[in-house]
Amino acid sequence: MQPPSETGPGGPVRSVTLLGATGSIGSSTIDLLRRDRSRYRVEAVTAHRNGAALAQLARELGARFAAVADLRAYDELKAGLSGSGIEAGAGPAALVEAADRPAEWVMAAITGAASLAPTLAAAERGATVALANKECLVCAGALFMRRAAAAGATVLPVDSEHNAIFQALSAGRREEVRRIVLTASGGPFRTFSREQMRKVTLEQALKHPIWSMGPKITIDSATLMNKGLELIEARHLFAVRPEELDVVVHPQSVVHGLVEFRDGSVIAQLGSPDMRIPIAHCLAFPERMATPAQRLDLARISTLTFEEPDPERFPALSIARHALVAGGGAPTVLNAANEVAVAEFVAGRLGFAGIPALVEATLDAVERNGEMVEPQSVDQAVAVDHNARRQASHLLPEIAAMAS
Ligand SMILES: NC(=O)c1ccc[n+]([C@@H]2O[C@H](COP(=O)([O-])OP(=O)(O)OC[C@H]3O[C@@H](n4cnc5c(N)ncnc54)[C@H](OP(=O)(O)O)[C@@H]3O)[C@@H](O)[C@H]2O)c1
Repeated sequence: MQPPSETGPGGPVRSVTLLGATGSIGSSTIDLLRRDRSRYRVEAVTAHRNGAALAQLARELGARFAAVADLRAYDELKAGLSGSGIEAGAGPAALVEAADRPAEWVMAAITGAASLAPTLAAAERGATVALANKECLVCAGALFMRRAAAAGATVLPVDSEHNAIFQALSAGRREEVRRIVLTASGGPFRTFSREQMRKVTLEQALKHPIWSMGPKITIDSATLMNKGLELIEARHLFAVRPEELDVVVHPQSVVHGLVEFRDGSVIAQLGSPDMRIPIAHCLAFPERMATPAQRLDLARISTLTFEEPDPERFPALSIARHALVAGGGAPTVLNAANEVAVAEFVAGRLGFAGIPALVEATLDAVERNGEMVEPQSVDQAVAVDHNARRQASHLLPEIAAMAS
């Protein structure tokens, strides 16, 4: 990572852009920035359609540019920025413009595959990309990492498990790694029977026992699809083979990730379940900064437990692992179908058990049609993604009826 290229009265200043500034990761990042304003300059901030909240953040942070993805939110954003001198933009091209502007550090925290184009734009100009969004690596991981490497970009993992592994990997050389283990909290339904899981409500699925996150990732955590997406994310981030990746359920979410080396040493990263810790690691990298996160008190926690994930009750994890092993276009299709399934569950048109069922049926249908193509460009990734979304929507009534 390049050292900060700007200086202020108090020393070096790091210029930052926040993609997804109004979300959960965006808020945690802003919380850290607020604690030491003199060390950061905010170039651009983005949101989906929350124009008023974005305008307020842009003003508070002194951003130069603010953009909403949804054109209908432009007037609200513009009104909120009136008289501030901050430029406003709207639509997909404006998000790419935000990512393209000269900030050395970019937080990629837009939910879903919508993150791909702007995050890639930041990587392609060689920025340091703090990658919270996992869907863009699932959707087009090989393409993303190839282009980021060619541009000399630094990709830092924000996801707590991947950040933990990134830290643990520094204990040895790549060829000495035997296994990488991601921990999973198990979500709100870890102890539910299959029967109980058929009846879970949106409200229950949105109540994560440990982490406070945006709705999409919270539901992905309840199905364990989140862990499946994270396996695919880890494959690309760390250039490992699928068989080198494992998942263990750890309900206390204190151990975030582990790396086993060939001599039998296992290096883990531990910390309170607070996203400000991995975000701070990326924000200050390669240094360390102070955070307000609760200090880890192992004597008070007293017990850390670990168990195997149950593939019967959580089929999403196995479906994602199959897509990981299959490679090619399968992860892109998996991600798109899952985005559709989660949105339909949120809208009340699909039961909880229908989420993995719809994803699996979509993967089968796309395969049968001979449309499982590995994306070689952003346009191809978008085309595979759109086709999978169409298939998933087509299959929805049948799956919703079967899984109800
Ligand atoms: N939250 C966590 O603890 C956590 C941990 C690890 C990884 N992640 C990953 O980080 C990403 C963000 O998660 P989050 O929990 O912060 O989500 P969130 O709270 O739902 O926030 C999402 C952000 O992205 C914007 N956004 C949503 N859809 C968009 C679209 N189609 N186009 C442009 N912008 C869009 C939202 O804007 P509006 O406010 O206008 O809707 C908001 O700023 C996800 O990929 C998630 O998997 C999150």
